[in-house]
Amino acid sequence: MSRSNHQGKKKTRRTAKRRRFISILILILLLCISSVIACKTLYKEQEKSDTTGNTEQEYDNKKEDKSKDDKSSKNKTSKGYTIVTKDGVTSIDGIKIVNKTYSVPENYGNGLTPECEKAYKDMQKDMQELNLPCKMRTGYRSCSMQREIYNKYVREDGKANADTYSARPCYSEHHLGECMDVNSLDQSFGDTPEGKWIADNCWKYGFIIRYPKGKEDITGYMYEPWHIRYVGKSLAKKLYNGGDWIPLEEHFGITSKYPD
Ligand code: DAL
Ligand code: ZN
Repeated sequence: MSRSNHQGKKKTRRTAKRRRFISILILILLLCISSVIACKTLYKEQEKSDTTGNTEQEYDNKKEDKSKDDKSSKNKTSKGYTIVTKDGVTSIDGIKIVNKTYSVPENYGNGLTPECEKAYKDMQKDMQELNLPCKMRTGYRSCSMQREIYNKYVREDGKANADTYSARPCYSEHHLGECMDVNSLDQSFGDTPEGKWIADNCWKYGFIIRYPKGKEDITGYMYEPWHIRYVGKSLAKKLYNGGDWIPLEEHFGITSKYPD
C-alpha cells in the first residue's frame, strides 16, 4: 500500500469518527431539549389542575376552611384574646366582661361572689388598721334594680348625660357580683386619704379602679374612684401599671359602646 493511500484511509476513518461523535452529541442535545419540554408541559398541567382542576369537593373544603378562619377571628379581640360567651355572659381570659358592648341576661346573678367578698373584707380590715374608713355602698345589683336607677337618671338628667355615668339595665358591672361602690359617690372621693389609698393599694387585694380618670372614651364612663372591680391579684397588678391604671377594655382590646 502506498503511503498516500494509507494516509487517505486514515483521514476517512477520522472523519467518520468525528461524524459519529457529532451525531451522538446532537442526539444527546435533542434528548435534553425534549425532556425539558416534557417537564415544562407537565408542570403547566399540574398548575392548571391546582387552580381550576380541583373537584367541587376540594373547592368547598377550601371555602369552608376560610369561613372557619373568618368565624374564629370574629371571636378574637383586637389584641388577640379569645372572647367566650357562655349562657349569655362574656368572658375573656377567664374574666367576666360587662360594659356598653357586653351585657348579661335579665335574671343574672344573686349577690357578691365569695372571692370578691373576701378580698373586700381583707382590704377593709387593713384600712381600718390605718384609720381609713371603708364602707360598701352597693355590691350586687339586678337588672331590674339597675332599670329603676337608670330610668330615674334619664328622667332627671336626660339619656345622653345618664349614659356617661349610669349603665343601662343588664349592662352594669354590678350584675356580676364582682364589684362594688365604696364610701362616697363623688369624684372628690379620689382626693381623700382613703380614696388615694384605695387607688394605690386595691390591686394588692385583686381589685382595680374600673373607670379611671382620663380613660372615659375607652371605658365609656366618667371617672369613678369609688367603683372597684375584683379581677384577682395577678391581673389587678398588671392593670395598676405603677399607678397609671389600664382599663379592662384597653388591656383586652375590646370596645364599650351600645349597639345603637
Ligand atoms: N356607674 C356604673 C357605670 C354602673 O351604673 O354600673
Ligand atoms: Zn359602681
